[in-house]
Amino acid sequence: MSAIRPSRKRNVATIRNQKGGEPIVCLTAYTAMMAEILDSSVDVLLVGDSLGTVLHGHETTIPVTIDDMIYHGRSVARANPKALLVVDVPFGSYEAGPEQAYATTARILKETGADAVKLEGGVAQAPTIEFLVNRGVPVMGHIGLRPQAVRATGGYRIVGKTEEECTNLKEDADAVTKAGAFAVVLEGVVEALAAEITKQIDIPTIGIGASPHCDGQILVTEDLLGMFEKTPKFVRKFADLRNEISTAVEQYANEVRERTFPTEAETYSGNKTTIPLPIKKAQR
Ligand code: KIV
Repeated sequence: MSAIRPSRKRNVATIRNQKGGEPIVCLTAYTAMMAEILDSSVDVLLVGDSLGTVLHGHETTIPVTIDDMIYHGRSVARANPKALLVVDVPFGSYEAGPEQAYATTARILKETGADAVKLEGGVAQAPTIEFLVNRGVPVMGHIGLRPQAVRATGGYRIVGKTEEECTNLKEDADAVTKAGAFAVVLEGVVEALAAEITKQIDIPTIGIGASPHCDGQILVTEDLLGMFEKTPKFVRKFADLRNEISTAVEQYANEVRERTFPTEAETYSGNKTTIPLPIKKAQR
């Protein structure tokens, strides 16, 4: 089964034009290898700052640095994806104001080759988004549950359970749209509110834990692959790689200990001891 998907390079206009049409398929990728595997099925690849928790063992995304994002952004860009490549702007590198945000995002775009950046915040970040967009930095917004604000909000809380939260989030969505974002992630938003915002604004909404009513969906790839034992309610595990990896590694360990790996077929014999470089991928 393969998804039918045009093979042209995605840009911010093609994503924006998908508003109300074909759902926008987005996933996170932190490495060239993962980007190569995902690219033919998705519209957007996000180098999310979730890499701090998923790859690097941090408890939150707060410790993630600009250098971390650039390192992984470059890696994904080397896969030359047809999908739109978006890189997250990490905590502490844009909130001080538009000038700080411009310096950070210009560096991210220049040093990674990404197509766009994503930053968290609604009304409070609208002037910054406008400043960036006016200077040629394409911005994806991110409102609702904001993982970078977890210390201020006291936890990962679903948004839209009170009148006040609904009003505030609708204002955030409007502000981000008017500021010129080409799309906005809605994270952890109750269904009715996500549906209302999706109707209210004329840029695509990309949902994560925000119901099927959004214009697109995003998940952390390692979540959908079943790499974690515990995942939030909104995650569907489309594979069980954690168990598959454990089983494969146990088998490898047994065979090394039993000396049944490697066999003769997996051994270089004779006097040819050098392998010509570069090693082709197929030879690995
Ligand atoms: O950091 C991230 O991976 C994200 C998405 C999951 C939306 O922001």
